[in-house]
Amino acid sequence: MSRPPIIAVDGPAAAGKGTLARRLAATLGLPYLDTGLLYRAVGRRVLDAGADPRDPAAAASAAQTLTAADTTRADLRGPDADRAASAVAAIPAVRAALLDFQRRFGAENGAVLDGRDIGTVVFPQADAKLFVTASPEVRARRRFLELQGRGQAAEYETVLAEIRARDEQDINRAVAPLKPAEDAKLLDTSELDAEAAFQAAMRLLGRG
Ligand code: DC
Repeated sequence: MSRPPIIAVDGPAAAGKGTLARRLAATLGLPYLDTGLLYRAVGRRVLDAGADPRDPAAAASAAQTLTAADTTRADLRGPDADRAASAVAAIPAVRAALLDFQRRFGAENGAVLDGRDIGTVVFPQADAKLFVTASPEVRARRRFLELQGRGQAAEYETVLAEIRARDEQDINRAVAPLKPAEDAKLLDTSELDAEAAFQAAMRLLGRG
């Protein structure tokens, strides 16, 4: 029997990767891992300890002692968690600690993983790679509506500024920066709703 596939879904914040990757996993019968949650959980642990998420020692220690339970906390979304996750994600020791976790997750039963560096670093030999993008304005609009839906106060302009700041940090960091793998298929969801994005992704994967 052939090995179950690894499907990498990378792209910037709020491009629609999570919704898409979750549905691909369910449709293809594969386990799903939102790798951003790992960085969020590390960031949250550093904040809990009263430390600065940019502090390499504090962040590395939080990553090395991360448990599965940390990733199911209810407070991993929102502006503080966004900023803390982006800061710890720039620290090489944090990325190294989380690399094994991600590889082990996919090793046995295959997986759909979404993140920033799945196709470039975590699984360069992935069976299929998608790079999902949308314009910053569209992504900010989606994130703004999501925050509103959760009853959190938000202003569109602030959300847009945060999205741009996170892009900047994710793209320009020295280790595993956000960029498409050379063999990734690009999917721009600026003009697509979730259903259309799913159909387009299935076609790109040769399954549509
Ligand atoms: O996808 P997300 O917004 O939940 O990701 C949170 C942060 O973690 C984001 O700033 C980028 C970082 N991240 C990363 O560096 N590598 C990954 N594989 C996933 C997320």
